[in-house]
Amino acid sequence: MDEDAGSMKRIAECGAGAIVTKSIGLKPRDGYANPTLVELECGLLNAMGLPNPGIESFKEEIKKLKQSKIKIIGSIFGSNASEFTELAKKMESYGADAVELNMSCPHAKGYGLEIGSDPKLVNGITSKVKRAINIPVFVKISPNLMNIVEIAKAAERGKADAIVAINTVKAMKIDLDLKMPVLANKIGGYSGRAIKPIGVRCVYEISENVKIPIIGVGGITNGEDALEYMIAGASAVQIGSGLYYREIDIFKKVCKEIQNWMKKNNYNNLSELVGVAHK
Ligand code: DHB
Repeated sequence: MDEDAGSMKRIAECGAGAIVTKSIGLKPRDGYANPTLVELECGLLNAMGLPNPGIESFKEEIKKLKQSKIKIIGSIFGSNASEFTELAKKMESYGADAVELNMSCPHAKGYGLEIGSDPKLVNGITSKVKRAINIPVFVKISPNLMNIVEIAKAAERGKADAIVAINTVKAMKIDLDLKMPVLANKIGGYSGRAIKPIGVRCVYEISENVKIPIIGVGGITNGEDALEYMIAGASAVQIGSGLYYREIDIFKKVCKEIQNWMKKNNYNNLSELVGVAHK
């Protein structure tokens, strides 16, 4: 979803506060051959291969989406600072309210994690993009790193406005009959319930070490999951795979569940809960 105005509009009508687009690059890409997605016991494994219509064609999608009031976070991927900057400028000119730099797709050659595992590149790309545009810049980072805190700090030094943590966890599924990996790309990214404790740990560690806000993502399917992320240090959360488990109105459901929990526990304001686990 989130590759076209139609699916994004449906999400906007279902209670989301903002929408993150599918990651968009300079040129149209078909992505990998199928199978690209498989449901496992506790989550989803995917390797889509960054399929997208390319930034030029995406203009039309954003234009259509601008008819809704929803805030748009344009996710972009590039292989170097100039590509990211060109994409960010276009997203801004189309009317995106913020950009999210994808430095964490776990299986695309020359993109994502290959860039997002080097603090110098993360810092250089973030600061170049920041200097080129006026809308906020978020940096989405990977859990598949030993130095996640160092990467988050590099983004903060580059003047990122927020860190988004986490992207999917590198994983594989083998088919016993075929005795080969199920995904055409063999390796994919695991999302959904199984990765929530990994995401919560990453958000906790990052928030001990950076001052900018963190957007928590990874395995959130209900209000209590979202609250866990916030108590660990996230100021906002994103939901992806949760749509598969609880339908498109998961956003309304999660908001209601957060409200119910807050009422029961005598909280009036979500900000009272952000980072409380550190105190
Ligand atoms: C894809 C995977 C990711 O983890 C991501 O952040 C963006 C795109 C993909 O396979 O298309």
